[in-house]
Amino acid sequence: MTNKYVLSSSILSADFARLGEEIAKVEAAGVDWIHVDVMDGHFVPNITMGPFIVETCRRITKLPLYVHFMIENPERYIEAFAKAGASGLTVHVETRPDIVGMLKKIKALGCKAGAVLNPETPVGAIQPALPEADLILVMSVHPGYSGQSFMPESISRVSEIRKKLDALRSSAWLEEDGGIDVQTLPKMKEAGATAFVAATAIFKNPQGPAAGVKALRGLLD
Ligand code: DX5
Ligand code: ZN
Repeated sequence: MTNKYVLSSSILSADFARLGEEIAKVEAAGVDWIHVDVMDGHFVPNITMGPFIVETCRRITKLPLYVHFMIENPERYIEAFAKAGASGLTVHVETRPDIVGMLKKIKALGCKAGAVLNPETPVGAIQPALPEADLILVMSVHPGYSGQSFMPESISRVSEIRKKLDALRSSAWLEEDGGIDVQTLPKMKEAGATAFVAATAIFKNPQGPAAGVKALRGLLD
């Protein structure tokens, strides 16, 4: 059975000294995907993970691994991440004018292909990607760090993209990333999002990651 909604756990807020245990906890608690935030210190100020982390995660879990590229020249790296075991690769429209060609290349590598939109980028920029994408990711924070506040203006952006996807009869996941917690997730679900990324609300939950997953997953079942 496939879920109607997806909860994706961003490991950016995990304890990397215990990455295996952290992933095992969220997997046992019922998370659907693992979200890997790849940053290069150029497209965003922060620097995070490379293909090695994806390869490590691939040995730890059977869950789909979705890479969120926040890097310049993502085309230079898609093959390495696909080889490392990524299930999906998502690329910012801001980094690549030929987003359709990029999505096709990702699919040719055997991965699900996603396009991502920054908060300040006009919604129209995602239009060319819609017929080709398996996943549309809408940022509700400025990318770079976990633990930032949700930007409420992203709610209407998701509704707008929902209408566009429905008009195309697309079954692509419409995913939301940034500041997702028990307050903001229902608003995004109402607006038409079907997949939700969370780092802080899961790994920094005072009762632990399993409680974080259960609280969010419970809003989707
Ligand atoms: C931000 C990343 C997000 C981040 C989410 O640039 O793309 O995936 O880890 O973190 P929270 O859920 O804490 O906003
Ligand atoms: Zn992300």
